[in-house]
Amino acid sequence: MKIDYQEPSKDLLMRIDLHEKYGSANIDVWTNDLLKPQAGMKILDVGCGAGKLCFLFNEYAQGQAEITGGDFSNELLEKAREKNKQTGAKIDFQFLDFNEPFKFADNQFDLCTSAFAIYYASDLNFTFGEAHRVLKEGGRLFVSGPLPENKQMFYEIIKEATNNAPIPPMPGSSRFKGEIYATIEKIFTKTELHKFENHLTFPEVAPFMDYVRASLGEDRRLWTSMFNGKDEYEALVGKIETVAKKWFDRDGKLVMTKVIGGILAVK
Ligand SMILES: C[S@@+](CC[C@H](N)C(=O)[O-])C[C@H]1O[C@@H](n2cnc3c(N)ncnc32)[C@H](O)[C@@H]1O
Repeated sequence: MKIDYQEPSKDLLMRIDLHEKYGSANIDVWTNDLLKPQAGMKILDVGCGAGKLCFLFNEYAQGQAEITGGDFSNELLEKAREKNKQTGAKIDFQFLDFNEPFKFADNQFDLCTSAFAIYYASDLNFTFGEAHRVLKEGGRLFVSGPLPENKQMFYEIIKEATNNAPIPPMPGSSRFKGEIYATIEKIFTKTELHKFENHLTFPEVAPFMDYVRASLGEDRRLWTSMFNGKDEYEALVGKIETVAKKWFDRDGKLVMTKVIGGILAVK
C-alpha cells in the first residue's frame, strides 16, 4: 500500500514547537530514559526529519556516538544539516527512502530508531526487515507513534465542526498498535510497548489553531479527502475555529492529550 504523504518543514517544526511550549511532559526525557544512547554506539534514525532525535542522542552521548539520520525529504535534511553546522555536531544526514533497500551493510548498528515516521512505509515487512538486517545481533529497535486514544479532543472538535464527516484514517494511529507492533514482534525478539502521555494545555484558541493548520495542511496530503483546494481548506479551518472557540468559552482552556507508544525490540 503506497501512502501519499510528505512533511513540509514549517508544519513539522510548528508542531514540535507547540509540544515544547504547551506540553506537560517532555518526550525527549522519556525517549532518553528508555534508550540511554551511549558513547561509542552506532545509531541509525530512520525518517529523521530535521534531526530531532539525532541531536537528542548526540547531546546525551556527549557527541561520542556515531549517528546517522536518514530521510527522503531534502528540505528537512537541509534543516538538519544547517543545525549540524550551527551546533558543531557531526551527525551524518543522508537521503534514505525507507521503501527502498537501506544503503548499509548487514549488522552495522547498535540502535535503529524511528520517531513518528515509519508507519508511512508501504510494506512493513520489507522496511522492518531492512531495520533488522542493518542491526547487530542484540541491537535494539525503537519506534514511536500515536496510540489509538491519541488526541481525542482534536478529532472530536473536527467531528463537531463537520457534522461527523468521516476523519481520514491516519497511518499512525490506525497502524501503530496493530500492524506495526505485530510486524516488529514477528521479526524481532523481546518486543515491548511503552506509553507516554502529554497534556497540551492551550491558554488561547490561537495556538490550538496553529496546531490544526500544521496538521491538516494541504501539502501533507493526509487530510485532503475533507477539502478540495484553498477555499474549502479555509472554510474547514474556519468551522474548526468556531467550535474551538465554543469549547474554550465553556472550559476556559483547550486540553489535548497526546498518547504515544514506543515499541522497543531486540534483534
Ligand atoms: C512526522 S515527521 C517526523 C520526523 C522526525 N522523526 C521527528 O520526530 O521530528 C515524519 C518523517 O517521515 C519522513 N518520511 C516519510 N516517508 C518516508 C520515506 N519513504 N522514507 C524516508 N522518510 C520518510 C518525512 O519526510 C518526515 O521527516
